[in-house]
Amino acid sequence: MDTPGLTNHNQTLNTTPSKSQGRPVAVITGGTRGIGLSIAKKLADEGYALALIYQRHHQFARQARDILRKTVPVEIFQSDVRHWDTLRDTIASIHTAWGPISVAVHNAASGVARPLLETTLRHFDFTLEVNAGGLIGLAQAVVPKMATPGRIIAISSLGARVSYPDYGLVGASKAAMEAIVRQLARELGSQGITVNAIAPGPIPSPTLSHFEQGESWVQKFIEKVPMHQALSDNDVTQALCCLIQQQMINGQTLTVDGGFLTMA
Ligand SMILES: NC(=O)c1ccc[n+]([C@@H]2O[C@H](COP(=O)([O-])OP(=O)(O)OC[C@H]3O[C@@H](n4cnc5c(N)ncnc54)[C@H](OP(=O)(O)O)[C@@H]3O)[C@@H](O)[C@H]2O)c1
Repeated sequence: MDTPGLTNHNQTLNTTPSKSQGRPVAVITGGTRGIGLSIAKKLADEGYALALIYQRHHQFARQARDILRKTVPVEIFQSDVRHWDTLRDTIASIHTAWGPISVAVHNAASGVARPLLETTLRHFDFTLEVNAGGLIGLAQAVVPKMATPGRIIAISSLGARVSYPDYGLVGASKAAMEAIVRQLARELGSQGITVNAIAPGPIPSPTLSHFEQGESWVQKFIEKVPMHQALSDNDVTQALCCLIQQQMINGQTLTVDGGFLTMA
């Protein structure tokens, strides 16, 4: 199995408990639908055993598990990333059954979509807790259980750097997440763990319908981006594989937008 992940993480082969069947282990928050599921599929293709964390939608989670299980060992875990203690217990149980974790992806996201002047402190707390706090909780849980080298990758968005309608809270949470990425990279580099973020532009998906003008973001993106085409989940998963392969890319946010943000 000559893949980016396995090539760089092959010291875990044949040393891990039976559930992972000697494969490197990846944990993905929000890995049961949307972009997270695409990441899971890509890592399954690369030979990883998968632990997928979700919050509420059992049916999506079971479907994801059943599809992916045809290829690699997969388990699903219901665990809210806002609750760091529970997340720590979840990751500890994954580690016990599966062995050291090679890759942890913080893809789960949520938030309140409305103009900032119509938000409350509760909305702010909720959005920051899931999107930014979840990364700290995941890092605290996973780092003591990580293989070397280890990879932590967070999924951000262009909204960390530019404004979109009703995206104030989510954008703030993603900006905070990117700051946390840089800080974790500083704190964990000496342990052989890199921490990076991927910031895609808008991707055609049901998520965009949560924002009043979300559907139009893709159209505007296609009009402006030099290659005049939409982004896909595939663009994100390929960027993720690049980051997994690299030891000396650390503390970065990799923009995946076809050059959209560079266009005046
Ligand atoms: N879609 C886009 O256009 C776009 C563009 C740029 C960046 N992104 C980023 O890409 C990532 C994935 O986006 P998506 O559109 O695929 O999202 P999505 O379809 O809404 O899926 C979100 C996932 O996160 C999980 N989740 C939400 N809150 C959670 C919590 N508190 N604890 C644990 N899991 C939780 C959900 O679990 P349940 O299924 O149980 O609810 C679900 O699996 C996000 O970080 C998003 O910000 C998306």
